[in-house]
Amino acid sequence: MGESSALQSILYDRGALRLLDQVPPSASHAPSLDSKWCPVLPLLIGVLVSGFDVMQRKLPLEEVYIDVKDSADGWNAIRDMVVRGAPAIAIAAALSLAVEVNDHDFTGTPVEAASFVSKKLEYLVSSRPTAVNLSDAATKLQNLVSRTAETAKDAKSIFQVFIEAAEAMLVDDVADNKAIGLHGAEFLQRQLGSSRNISVLTHCNTGSLATAGYGTALGVIRALHSGGVLEKAFCTETRPFNQGSRLTAFELVHDKIPATLIADSAAAALMNNGQVQAVIVGADRIAANGDTANKIGTYNLSISAKHHGVQFYVAAPVTSIDLSLPSGKQIVIEERSPKELLNSEGGLGKQVAASGISVWNPAFDVTPANLITAIITEKGVITKSGPNGSFDIKGFIERAK
Ligand code: MRU
Repeated sequence: MGESSALQSILYDRGALRLLDQVPPSASHAPSLDSKWCPVLPLLIGVLVSGFDVMQRKLPLEEVYIDVKDSADGWNAIRDMVVRGAPAIAIAAALSLAVEVNDHDFTGTPVEAASFVSKKLEYLVSSRPTAVNLSDAATKLQNLVSRTAETAKDAKSIFQVFIEAAEAMLVDDVADNKAIGLHGAEFLQRQLGSSRNISVLTHCNTGSLATAGYGTALGVIRALHSGGVLEKAFCTETRPFNQGSRLTAFELVHDKIPATLIADSAAAALMNNGQVQAVIVGADRIAANGDTANKIGTYNLSISAKHHGVQFYVAAPVTSIDLSLPSGKQIVIEERSPKELLNSEGGLGKQVAASGISVWNPAFDVTPANLITAIITEKGVITKSGPNGSFDIKGFIERAK
């Protein structure tokens, strides 16, 4: 679980958690002065005011890791997008609490320890609402600690069980993503014809940076590439936070995968030119009927794909499926700060929009199931085998058990 040359957003050893800072590069710590007057003055003052912090430019220009010592640090890191991506959010949240309870001097009973863990998990879930992976993990961990409390001798053993379960999430996620990659690459080749090289378009960041490693939609792209059948991956910028241009482009270059960056608004033209055979995206929450919440702009891509006869795939672990919601209408969509649109650098840079304009900035949208060709999971590919060409996700999950 230590550091390696592979791209890792989460570095963990028992008692220590570090997260790769995925916030855009910015000199926002420096006081705002007119750089025409003296271009180096803001930098010098910034150094004096905040130590050498201002010198650290973050991903993709520099890899800076942030220490996370407890669940409050974890909550802030998730809310501020230091760590983002549905699976990574869930794992980072659980591990932030694992670090907090490691060596915790807790004097209460096992039931009190379970309740302590439960409350902290509830608090962590409140950091970002749309991705289901975090609330799914929290529920499973809460059930685990309250079951354990029924027979445990002391509080320490509750924390021990919790820490081991949180650590397992980190390991399991990579294995799940590799399975998603294999299933997806095999399925795409069968659907699109394996004799020709495949070009795909992806959106947002679903790779090593959004997961414990390898990625979901980007994992399928990695598997196509290592299978020698990927012609090219196109990635969108993913406005306004630019997860595509900053993070996905970074991963594709890092792994030497042939790739081209496009503006979000170029996607329809790309499809019209016949340059991609498939769109492949991740998911933050998949409702029981297959409606899928994912990064804002995913819905636009699915409509364009339908119009141009391009296949549209969702790749996600089964922990992204929320069978309690009949359709996407019930998914709560997180809205983020107007500053992401009003200012450059995802809200951290200078103001670029007209003062006084009002802003609507949903972080996600919902793609209806009828625009999705198939959902690729670690247990296999969910196709439209239900009545009237619908997804039978519940049946798929039961059969996969
Ligand atoms: O706002 P973000 O960056 O957390 O949004 C991420 C996405 O929408 C991803 O596509 C999704 O979480 C899947 S990550 C494997």
